[in-house]
Formats: sequence, C-alpha cells, structure tokens
Amino acid sequence: MRLTRRSAIASALALSACGQGAKSQPAPAPIPPLKSLARFPIGCCVQERWLQEPDYADLLAEQFSQLTAEWEMKMEYILREDGGFQFDRPDSIALFAKARGMALHGHTLVWYAGEPEPFKKLDGKGAAFANAYRNYILAVVGRYKGQARSWDVVNEPITDDGERLRESLWSRNVGLDDHIIRALEHAREADPAAALFINDYHLELKPNKRATFMRLVERLLKRGAPLDGLGTQTHIDYDLPEGAVGAALKDLASFGLPIHLSELDISLGDRFVPALPGDRVKRQIAKYAEVAEAFMALPERQRFAFTVWGLRDSDTWLRGPSGQRPTDQPLLFDDAGQAKPTARVLADAFSRRA
Ligand code: XIL
Repeated sequence: MRLTRRSAIASALALSACGQGAKSQPAPAPIPPLKSLARFPIGCCVQERWLQEPDYADLLAEQFSQLTAEWEMKMEYILREDGGFQFDRPDSIALFAKARGMALHGHTLVWYAGEPEPFKKLDGKGAAFANAYRNYILAVVGRYKGQARSWDVVNEPITDDGERLRESLWSRNVGLDDHIIRALEHAREADPAAALFINDYHLELKPNKRATFMRLVERLLKRGAPLDGLGTQTHIDYDLPEGAVGAALKDLASFGLPIHLSELDISLGDRFVPALPGDRVKRQIAKYAEVAEAFMALPERQRFAFTVWGLRDSDTWLRGPSGQRPTDQPLLFDDAGQAKPTARVLADAFSRRA
C-alpha cells in the first residue's frame, strides 16, 4: 500500500492517539466559560427537574448567561385542563435564573402545536375566545414582568412546507395575521419592557419558508405590531449546505431587528453510530464554527442572544420521541458533561471577534 504524505501524517497521528503515547497526551484544556467570551447572552434550554442535579446546575450556570424553558413555560404545562394556571415549575426555573444571575427568555405563548382543552371549549365563541386569549397572555407575561427580557410570542407561524401561515385553533378564532398581532399587543400590554419575538425553524434549510416568514414580518411591521426581534431556531443537520445559516441570518437581519439564534443543535443525522463516526463529527464541528461565525457577522446591536437546545448530549430532545435519533450527539457537552470540540469552536469564534 502506498501512502500519500497526507495520509501518512494522518495515520501517524491516529497511531499516537491510540498507542502508549495516548497516556502521556495532556488532557485538553478546559474551555473558558462561554458566557464570559461574548457581549450577548449565551442561552441554554432547561427542564426544571435537571436544575435539582448539582453537577448539571453548576455546569449550566458556569457556561451560560440565559435560560429558556424547554417546555414548562408552554401552555401545555401552564394551562391545566380545568382552566387554572400552574406556575410551580416555571417559577422555579425563573428563580434559578435569578439566583444564578442569568437572564430569562420566555418560550412560548402561542404555538399551533398546543391546543389545550379550556381553549377548545371556547372554539367558535368569538369574544369569549378572544378574552381568554388576552387573559392567558396577560397572566403569563405579567407573572415574569421585570424578569423575562424577552418572549417568543408566537412560535412556528409558518407551515412546514414553507408556503403559508399555519391554520390553527388560534388563527381560526382570532384571525390569521390578527392572532399574531393581538398576541404581540397583549404581551406588550403586560410587560412594555420585554422584547417580543416571533420564532420559527428551517429558515436556513428552506429559503421559501424564510421568504414567507419575512413577508409576515413585513405585514406585522406595516400594521404597527409591537414586534421587537426575530428568532431563528436553527435545528440543523451536520450536512446542511455551507452558507445556508449565514444567508438566513443576513436576510433576517435586513429588517434591522435583533436576531435570536434561539434553539441551536446540530444533529449527526439518522442512524448515527458513535463507534464509526466517519466524517460526520468533523463536519458537525465545522458547522458549529460556521454558525458562530455567521452570528458574529451580524451587526453587534442585532446579536440578541445565542441559545443552544440542551446542555449535555444526553439531554437532547432529538434522542426522545420527537427526534427519534437515540444515538445522536448534537450539543456542546457530552453525556458526562465534558466540553466537546463543538464547545471549543464556539469559544474560539466568540473570543476572536468579541
Ligand atoms: C421541544 C422540546 O425540546 C421537547 O422536549 C418537547 O417535548 C417538544 O418541544 N421548536 C420549539 C421547541 O420551538 O419548543 C421544541 O421543543 C423544539 C422545536
């Protein structure tokens, strides 16, 4: 077998990494806290139960400066079947944030994916529905007034194929554009200081979805809706074409509004086998670097926050029923809470261009 110079070097490195030499290799230096490297908040989503684990809580507070509740500030948790509100877990997330000096991002008030019983009962009842809609938003935003710096007021307004606005219980009862405008107005009424966002996914993968989202933004602004920022979730795969995230951020930034990269994870794809990673992991690391660079390329005043969707790989929603990728490793820290190269490239990007 003839080795090229490059592959000879590569095999030498591989040998030294797994032979005796590996023992004398110094352990990689710990990464500096990500939150210390950026002028904008570095966020992470959390579930209340994890905050009780000291190792989790310490790593979270050491690295991140902002929290998003993964699901416990959604209607599916807050609104009980009998119409009462349940604030215990959202309160304890908010309390944790306060105790550790972290900012809080509210997620989310109106989402097509949640149609709770108390609202279903009001379906078609005109003013009664609209009143309940307003009351819910006033109650939830009001509760965290002065603490939540921002809210995803309407989540995922565009259809999956990217062609139109989603029809839902909310749009049926309050109007297609109007349910978004009303929600923004009610949130503004409840907390005039909170920055109000709409948030969606695949804005980088599907340019047609981005265009539909941007047309919605145009209409909202034209009608004077209190929209303060745009959230782009950025649930992406390691093989997303190069430049896609940068193009999306650039387009979205054209309104001059702050941009929240709001739910980043980079999946290793279907049927990922950790023992045989091939080049997926390398491409994932490069993709993390690319996303961070693209965010840093935004004008500084438009960098609202950079949020990842989970702390350790073991916490990712992609391993659960909604993701169905039980072996995925899409985040910055491994199952044991050790920083991965994905965290290191973020640290590098944030410190290079702070
Ligand atoms: C997901 C959570 O991660 C899951 O735990 C939950 O069961 C379903 O929702 N877009 C969003 C998030 O805006 O709220 C979703 O979170 C992921 C996709």
